[in-house]
Amino acid sequence: MKLNSANINVLVKTCRKAAKVLIRDFGEIEKLQVSVKGPGDFVSSSDKNVEKIIIDELNKARPNYSILSEEIGSINKDSEFKWIIDPIDGTANFLHGVPHFAISIGLEKNNEIVCGIIYDPIKDEMFTAEKGSGSYLNNQRIRVSNRSSLKDCIIFTGGPRQNLKDKEVAIDEYKKFSSLVNIPIRKMGSAALDMAYVAAGRCDGFWQRNLNFWDIAAGIILIKEAGGIVKDFKGKDDYIENQTILAANSKINTEMVKILNS
Ligand code: 2AM
Ligand code: CA
Repeated sequence: MKLNSANINVLVKTCRKAAKVLIRDFGEIEKLQVSVKGPGDFVSSSDKNVEKIIIDELNKARPNYSILSEEIGSINKDSEFKWIIDPIDGTANFLHGVPHFAISIGLEKNNEIVCGIIYDPIKDEMFTAEKGSGSYLNNQRIRVSNRSSLKDCIIFTGGPRQNLKDKEVAIDEYKKFSSLVNIPIRKMGSAALDMAYVAAGRCDGFWQRNLNFWDIAAGIILIKEAGGIVKDFKGKDDYIENQTILAANSKINTEMVKILNS
């Protein structure tokens, strides 16, 4: 079985095109690690190049759709549809030559995400979802995990960053979860892939503060269509406004909300 709608086809084509540049640039980074200047400037120009390819391709296919993208911000057009784009999620991994990053694009219609793609170009793993049609990894249907005992779960998080104002709160959250699970908490460095992995049942639950809409847009539909739950730390749907996100299978979601509020 395969997701085959017109918008998904546009997203797949766009990601494949952008990924060619991303893979080529990733190959250059290893050489730059040893240079005095390091790969920093190269990575930010790569980020912008990839973004331009994505936006050009999406504009060609859907000239009327609005855009929100990490580097350039908003391009508003008179349409109920908006692409939400993160050209490279996991930029720090990319910069350091760690092969774990992704392109993430969601499509919003009247304030609801209706389809999304997260593409890991190095592993050639393409996660796609469309409202009402399920979630897929390389055209195979995926589901969230079925694990119900938190201590046996594998849990991911991303923060806190150095300059995060809630840094101490985030560290406390980390300590709470750490004391309840047998497997140490994972920090993989790409929020988009963390969410794709929840959808695929590889990760049982993920929580993080201070993410932006482009980090999570595609992940939201992937998880929902895979049978998972996406909430904010209060267990409500205001994850974009509150910038707290909790994504998990339906067996541990409630327990994770309780822990975050304990
Ligand atoms: P990026 O690579 O596009 O910057 C790393 O913890 C993950 O969190 C990445 O997906 C990173 O996205 C994202 N991230 C973005 N802004 C963040 C922030 N202010 N605090 C923590 N993580 C952030
Ligand atoms: Ca990001």
